[in-house]
Amino acid sequence: MKIIHNIKDLRQEMSSWRKEGLSIGFVPTMGYLHEGHGYLVKRASSENDRVVVSIFVNPIQFGPSEDFEKYPRDMEMDSRTVEACGGHVIFNPSAEEMYPSGFSTHVDVSGLTEGLCGAKRPGHFRGVCTVVSKLFNIVQPDRAYFGEKDAQQLAVIKRMVRDLNMPIEIVPCPIIREEDGLAKSSRNTYLNPEERRAALVLNRSLTAAINLMENGEINSSSIKARIEGIIKAEPLARIDYIEIIDSVTLNSIGEVKGSVLVAIAVYIGKTRLIDNFTFSGGDR
Ligand code: PAF
Repeated sequence: MKIIHNIKDLRQEMSSWRKEGLSIGFVPTMGYLHEGHGYLVKRASSENDRVVVSIFVNPIQFGPSEDFEKYPRDMEMDSRTVEACGGHVIFNPSAEEMYPSGFSTHVDVSGLTEGLCGAKRPGHFRGVCTVVSKLFNIVQPDRAYFGEKDAQQLAVIKRMVRDLNMPIEIVPCPIIREEDGLAKSSRNTYLNPEERRAALVLNRSLTAAINLMENGEINSSSIKARIEGIIKAEPLARIDYIEIIDSVTLNSIGEVKGSVLVAIAVYIGKTRLIDNFTFSGGDR
């Protein structure tokens, strides 16, 4: 497995693979890889001849009061994970390589980015879409793998790829959880033991919502109220949002019909965690 730091060298490697007729799978990440990322790399390696994993903590998707500086980083651990999961190249550029002085072009997906995390983190999706477009242009993969945990990010990337005619298949991958149900996230490492226990409230509240919906509840307000009640009972938790939305348009819905996304963001202490599930309701 190779680690490549600059765009020119990565392009050379990609063009030699393409000359050999090899298919390329791509897993964009910000590093500090956990089993969720491991799943993406393994899946990519089972569906492509070669796999590139980017590790780049993208400064332009963090707000001024967010955790860019303290975002966890560990290249040695990440290299071992990528190799063990079947990756062939890690692309690990510097911020200067990705954003040379004078950089002034951004990719904005409107509409889909306005609610949920987009409303709470202004500029976040502009940063994500800009870096993912650049990475897609540099790697030119056949397929790119994204986790369903970042459900809004996945919907936004799919829309961007469609709208800009990028010839890349976006492959959604399921949420990977700890044994006790907490969705895997690099940010889980910020939690102290008490917060780690409190964080289970996310999965617990979503499981209660699934039970309600499986028992025929279709009223979004009642489902939200159940989630809210459970989260508010946890003293270390503070709700950022609870949304019940159409899984494609991301518009709020009053009643569960068609494919519905139930998405939550909750602060546990200072750490903001997200989780979600998709539910197929009756006919639309
Ligand atoms: O999901 C992430 O880790 C990031 O948002 C991504 C897609 C790698 C872009 O920086």
